[in-house]
Amino acid sequence: MGPIELNKRRIFFLLGGIIAFYIVFHGLAFGGDSLKDVASHIPIPGHLTPTEHKPPIGQDEDDIWDLGPDPVSVVPPQSHPSATPDPDPDPAKAAQSGSAVPHIQPTPTAATTHFDLHPIAHLMEEADKQWRIYETGASATFRQTVEKYRSRYGRHPPPGFTDWYKFARKKNVVNVDDFDQIMDDLRPFWAVKPSDIRVHAAHMWENANFGVAVIHIRNHKVIRIDNGSWRSDTMAKVIETFIEFLPDMDIAMNRLDQPRLIVPWEDMQQMLSQEYKSRVMPPEVVDSFTQKLPGLLDMDIEDMAMDNSTRLSEDWFFRPGKQYMEVASKACPPESPARSNMSIAQADQHYKESSTGLINNFNLSSDLCTVGPAIQDLHGLLYSASSIIASHKLVPIFGECKVNINNDILFPANMYYLHDVRYDYNAEEDLDWRDKEDNIIWRGVTSGGVQTDDNWQRMHRQRLVQLFNGTHAKETNAKAKILTQKRFEVPQQNTTYEPFDKFKPDQFAEQHGDIGFVEAWGCVPNCSFYDSVFSWKPQVSLTSQFKSKYLIDVDGHSFSGRWHAFLQSKSLGFKATIFREWHDSRLFAWRHFVPVDNRYDDLYALMTYFVGYGKPNMEHATEGHDLNPQVYIAPHAKEAQTLAKQGREWANKSLRREDIEVYMFRLLLEYGRIMDDNRDHIGYSGDGSDLDKFDASEGKGERKGLWGVAGW
Ligand SMILES: *[C@@H]1O[C@H](CO)[C@@H](O)[C@H](O)[C@H]1NC(C)=O
Ligand SMILES: *[C@@H]1O[C@H](CO)[C@@H](O)[C@H](O)[C@H]1NC(C)=O
Ligand SMILES: *[C@@H]1O[C@H](CO)[C@@H](O)[C@H](O)[C@H]1NC(C)=O
Ligand SMILES: *[C@@H]1O[C@H](CO)[C@@H](O)[C@H](O)[C@H]1NC(C)=O
Ligand SMILES: *[C@@H]1O[C@H](CO)[C@@H](O)[C@H](O)[C@H]1NC(C)=O
Ligand SMILES: *[C@@H]1O[C@H](CO)[C@@H](O)[C@H](O)[C@H]1NC(C)=O
Ligand SMILES: *[C@@H]1O[C@H](CO)[C@@H](O)[C@H](O)[C@H]1NC(C)=O
Ligand SMILES: *[C@@H]1O[C@H](CO)[C@@H](O)[C@H](O)[C@H]1NC(C)=O
Repeated sequence: MGPIELNKRRIFFLLGGIIAFYIVFHGLAFGGDSLKDVASHIPIPGHLTPTEHKPPIGQDEDDIWDLGPDPVSVVPPQSHPSATPDPDPDPAKAAQSGSAVPHIQPTPTAATTHFDLHPIAHLMEEADKQWRIYETGASATFRQTVEKYRSRYGRHPPPGFTDWYKFARKKNVVNVDDFDQIMDDLRPFWAVKPSDIRVHAAHMWENANFGVAVIHIRNHKVIRIDNGSWRSDTMAKVIETFIEFLPDMDIAMNRLDQPRLIVPWEDMQQMLSQEYKSRVMPPEVVDSFTQKLPGLLDMDIEDMAMDNSTRLSEDWFFRPGKQYMEVASKACPPESPARSNMSIAQADQHYKESSTGLINNFNLSSDLCTVGPAIQDLHGLLYSASSIIASHKLVPIFGECKVNINNDILFPANMYYLHDVRYDYNAEEDLDWRDKEDNIIWRGVTSGGVQTDDNWQRMHRQRLVQLFNGTHAKETNAKAKILTQKRFEVPQQNTTYEPFDKFKPDQFAEQHGDIGFVEAWGCVPNCSFYDSVFSWKPQVSLTSQFKSKYLIDVDGHSFSGRWHAFLQSKSLGFKATIFREWHDSRLFAWRHFVPVDNRYDDLYALMTYFVGYGKPNMEHATEGHDLNPQVYIAPHAKEAQTLAKQGREWANKSLRREDIEVYMFRLLLEYGRIMDDNRDHIGYSGDGSDLDKFDASEGKGERKGLWGVAGW
């Protein structure tokens, strides 16, 4: 790389960088004397910040119901004019109509319009706003991309960033900035010596008991995979699409389903604080990785025993079958529900709206520091994990999923890349919405954790199957909490709702549920205790599940590999999970899918909202066939279809195999930098103008279509 021209723009951002840097230091130096004080202000992604932990003020059961529009908000809630069809929420349409701020609907007139004040209308509205900000905020040029990079992360982009950017553009990536997950996963490694990172990565696989594979890249080739499996083979295939840009490296990969690292919160705070302090943006850096770094695995030695190089212990410990929260809570902030005395009801307020507990913050619904106390006995991983090999030490191990308290480095799950008919979406076998059945389907095996006669009722899959078993509901006289429309309303008025917690779900479950196991698996000493509890439903291929309008996806032993296909389908995906994946920040609950609490205490409220329940007029209610004569809720099929369509279109743009390649490429550039001894002095220090021409031509070429469709 030749010398780079110092232009005004560059001086400007450098100055900005210096000022920002000064502020950080200033803050650190004067904000508090002890590191702990300083550290307690560094947010860990996916965790509540200390202020958020205070229970929200003034929320009580009485003022929940009238979820009118936010008084300061410009956008009215989704209106449902009784005479005219719903306004089309499709952004493309909005853009075509030339509206600068799409989705603003005409002010309803009292005579013709009323509002549906169901909390879901409000949640969908909010999600649309967030998603629009996300979509419109993305950088359009390389200049903007590097500028945003520096302002967000306080560093130059890594070496090879120019090539990555071109790669990403050619693959039509929708949001070239959204790689925070990578940055968050790697941030604490700035507090670890690069040589230690390399040594761990090189040798972690050597003890077969610890469940680690490794991919070795030398001279732009995957030259060997040790202790690999189809997973590492698939990862190697992804890497091959951009391997010419990578330095030599060893990539240690988790072979187990369960995540590995739990660094205690206090240690993590120290590391994050060190990372802050290490942020530098020297005026000129070298745009290439350092060659021949010591500490990588010596590929010339055939026999591992002959390799005398240094090894570092990962301090693995085995902990299967024990309460996961006992170790996991160490990684939580002291004031979080997992480490304080906060009641479950108080913790719930952080992520559930208060009527029937619909999820209003999907991130927190899977934050173990928040939900851990509520679900520690209700999920297989938390209650009866089959294989936990964990460490409290920060070592570089790549994993397909993790829980938010883990420090594994996420990469896109191989199942999403591999072409496997069991998990692949096939459009030819999908039906149009109107031809789908009005029910919710789930099929699977009894995985999730080790099951015994007295613990299976705590497993997440088993709970789901029982919850939606009409016979079981009837036998146990089960009751669910839902929302019902208020009665005696003047038709022209707004539709308002009230909670009803005595909903008898048996008939509804029979009519609108198709949820069951196909096979028992993973029990001790054997699965015969299920004989009197479950009957096995016929196996249904992935694509024939799409005959149902509603698909629910829950965890197995770890994350569920079906999720991309569910989103791509014309059905609507419901999702309950404790796991985090690479794609989380690009998927918006209530815009692309329906979030479900891991306790499923909201599931009947959700299903009755979409499917509808009962008759509008009271006369029918006295007929006596209906188990719940008090309940009436109009169907919201339109809303369901809208969500399904939005999820499908978005998945087709942002969860493609190309997106996986782009994510991995970016991840391995960042990884290549943190394990480089010169990591502070390598990277891209230009202002982005070198790709002006590229941006201009790409903008006119392939990307035109994309932006045209998206409407921005
Ligand atoms: C209906 O709801 C809208 C939006 O919340 C509100 O502005 C309007 O006053 C309500 N109308 C009636 C009759 O309550
Ligand atoms: C690699 O894994 C296999 C089992 O998958 C094991 O038998 C073997 O010992 C492992 N090799 C090393 C070096 O860990
Ligand atoms: C490692 O040490 C052993 C014993 O000292 C020696 O025989 C062997 O050659 C060494 N291996 C290498 C690669 O130097
Ligand atoms: C938690 O509750 C116990 C017993 O009620 C009490 O002694 C302790 O101080 C409480 N801790 C916090 C952090 O509130
Ligand atoms: C399963 O385990 C139970 C309890 O230990 C035992 O009575 C039964 O014979 C076993 N069934 C089979 C098929 O092995
Ligand atoms: C539903 O529950 C009943 C009674 O508890 C049981 O006999 C039946 O096998 C269950 N059905 C399924 C699909 O598991
Ligand atoms: C949820 O987490 C993602 C990262 O996975 C982040 O981008 C997003 O801003 C978070 N949303 C909220 C509401 O905190
Ligand atoms: C997915 O995207 C491709 C390329 O933009 C387009 O041709 C195709 O019609 C899209 N499919 C769906 C279902 O939106």
